[in-house]
Amino acid sequence: MLRKTLIAVAIVVGAATPLLAANDVNPQADAKAFKEYFTKRFPKVPLKDFVNGPYSMDEGLRKQWEAIDQFPPYDFAVDKGKQMFATPFKNGKTFADCFPNKGIGIRQNYPYFDTKSGQVISLEYAVNQCLKDNGEKPFDYTKDDMAAVTAYMAFTSRGKPFDIKIPNDPRALAAYQRGKEYFYTRRGQLNFSCASCHVQSPGHRIRTEVLAPAYGITAALPIYRSAWNGMGTTTRRFRTCNSQVRGMPLPGGDEDYRDVEYFLSYVSNGLPISGPGTRP
Ligand code: HEC
Repeated sequence: MLRKTLIAVAIVVGAATPLLAANDVNPQADAKAFKEYFTKRFPKVPLKDFVNGPYSMDEGLRKQWEAIDQFPPYDFAVDKGKQMFATPFKNGKTFADCFPNKGIGIRQNYPYFDTKSGQVISLEYAVNQCLKDNGEKPFDYTKDDMAAVTAYMAFTSRGKPFDIKIPNDPRALAAYQRGKEYFYTRRGQLNFSCASCHVQSPGHRIRTEVLAPAYGITAALPIYRSAWNGMGTTTRRFRTCNSQVRGMPLPGGDEDYRDVEYFLSYVSNGLPISGPGTRP
């Protein structure tokens, strides 16, 4: 069944032309092209609704979501994250000590390019860096503790527009470009790129799921997903997408994941943080 539906998507993919030329290096032009492509293709979707993933694409799903969201299943994660923020590490410091504005209302600035270390720092990476710097054990990138802390940070940032910067540093541009390449590279036994599903086929169904548009696709993370019966981090979502094409998921914190998140968040600049999200 999975195979059959994937083939149906592949047919759509074959017919479409790529949105961004892979070897052009012009992030601003990319962001403009992204916005134009998605708003033209889905003229009825209000701009700020793209951050609601599958719900922006499907009226039936949206109704179910509105019903569920009266008692949001991610609430427990937000509460847990808040508590974790308030609980000191063994050295007496807290998460708040590691972040600008004590970690509140800053989700829209992640990932960012760190000119000191010369790499992209995702929110999940920053959380683990904070733990390590304070002599604590880092979290598993895919599990509940990471989901809780990032859910709380997203919750305090809801509605704030993505504000991802590419500093004037050739390494930042290179990281962006690597992320873009990762997004457009076909992989796995099914030979799909991220774009095959999220640029060329948003709104199409794979099994019971409706594909989210790439525009704004990182805004709702982390998510509570019924299919997981729990929360999922950005890393968990990326790993699941890799597995879906029978490809190799990358380890948490991997530079490719951070770079692709940097690319996706940059081209979604201006769209509001909607996380934590609820998904079927
Ligand atoms: C075979 C198709 C397929 C491919 C290829 C794919 N995904 Fe997905 N992706 C899905 C499905 C199905 C979902 C769950 C439904 C949805 O939200 O789109 C999903 C969800 C997501 C979400 C969460 C969106 C939300 O709002 O909940 C993100 C982020 C994401 N994918 C990123 C990626 C990235 C990055 C890649 C490339 C590494 C990728 N995907 C490749 C099928 C795919």
